[in-house]
Amino acid sequence: MEDLMEKITNLAKKRGFVFPDSEIYGGLANTWDFGPLGIELKNNIKKLWWKTFVQERMDMVGLDSAIIMNPKVWEASGHVSGFTDQLVDCKSCKNRLRADHLVEDATGIDVEGKSPKEVLEIINKNKVKCPTCGKIDWTEPRNFNLLFKTQIGVLDDAKSLAYLRGETAQGMFADFKLILATSRKKIPFGIAQIGKAFRNEVTPGNFIFRTREFEIAEFEYFISPKADWQKIFDEWLGIMQKFADKIGLDKNKLHLHEIPTEKRAHYSKRTVDLEYDFPFGQKELWGIAYRTDYDLSAHQKHSSKDMKYFDQETHEAYIPHVIEPTFGVERTLLATLVAAYNEEEVSTATGEKETRIVLKLPKELAPFKIAILPLSKKPELEKIAQDIFDSFKESYMVDYDVSQSIGKRYRRQDEIGTPYCITVDFETLEDKTVTVRDRDTMKQERIKITKLPEYFSKNL
Ligand code: GAP
Repeated sequence: MEDLMEKITNLAKKRGFVFPDSEIYGGLANTWDFGPLGIELKNNIKKLWWKTFVQERMDMVGLDSAIIMNPKVWEASGHVSGFTDQLVDCKSCKNRLRADHLVEDATGIDVEGKSPKEVLEIINKNKVKCPTCGKIDWTEPRNFNLLFKTQIGVLDDAKSLAYLRGETAQGMFADFKLILATSRKKIPFGIAQIGKAFRNEVTPGNFIFRTREFEIAEFEYFISPKADWQKIFDEWLGIMQKFADKIGLDKNKLHLHEIPTEKRAHYSKRTVDLEYDFPFGQKELWGIAYRTDYDLSAHQKHSSKDMKYFDQETHEAYIPHVIEPTFGVERTLLATLVAAYNEEEVSTATGEKETRIVLKLPKELAPFKIAILPLSKKPELEKIAQDIFDSFKESYMVDYDVSQSIGKRYRRQDEIGTPYCITVDFETLEDKTVTVRDRDTMKQERIKITKLPEYFSKNL
């Protein structure tokens, strides 16, 4: 199965989905760029998410808040004091590791919620060796904060200290009252955002699964403290599972993991992770948390601003509680690639067997919906092909490819997940028909050019 990850990573690079960042300088560890097709796929995932969770709902509004916020936001939210991982150093070879990963890899023991002292005791009791030098000579673990620090302005002192946001959620909390006043929404309602988050992860890895810079699509759904939060939580969980289905993830590969109290984030009273069977194991894809009134209460206390909601019907004022479904965008993209990747044995025109790689992406997510392939560079064929391109370019993302053999061009479109290829050939000149090839079945049919709009509006 590891080998599948290698195949996906190679395909992603070869076809322009994901590249190592700043590769001309040797790259930067665990940092990736999204190429011409990667950005289309990522945008399609985000568009579908936004449409599903914001535009099609009457109880949701959007937001795009700043990445560098007032640092007091992060003090109030508990991230400055509590957003940490424990690190240990090998005194012998100076190797630095995440304590929980070190212990879990060596012994299978879960040390979540244990103090640094307790973790060191477990390390020594189990004689956990340094994976680099083999010695057992560890420092006591230290808490390492995951927030990226930066400076505002030109003064290099404590007053200018700021943070890159560690989650997008705090924007929704900080702007809660402004949104309430301007959107005329009544509780229950949600505020959604998609944007970059930054975490100084100690051990990133597995391609784009864990990186230091990534995008989160999440929303804070505000409810009354008297509402049945368990019921609302379960409803959202069901909606998240439906979204997984919409983006082509097999429900048998999606697992719910109830997070025990000691492993939950500091703000959560209940968390369920939606885990997916990635080639490197069953890992967290998305999550849903019941954040109670933790964040709004903390901001009310630290800012001295009233964060209460006034219910016009009951005449009660209260700090709303929050259910938060959260989706990592890159992890979603990786899961869609894993789910879509297929290898099939097919026969060539000369009867030989060969492997066809095909990305069976849901049509809505595919970077290109249609590829137009004139059989040759003959001007009369290209003229018709370009006219077809022009007639569809406003409705669909269309690729146009004229070089190499038609067989190679079909393979390329299969590998990038294009649902339909249109071939313009010499028959086209005579009867104004083209060949339309279906990515999944490889079936080809002759269709009149005038009938193409109808065909695609039915199939796409
Ligand atoms: N506001 C809640 C929150 O940020 P989280 O579980 O810490 O929750 C949200 O992160 C989602 O972001 C995760 O479910 C995961 O999909 C993604 N994610 C978290 N850390 C990541 C990382 N280092 N690299 C890529 N994606 C990450």
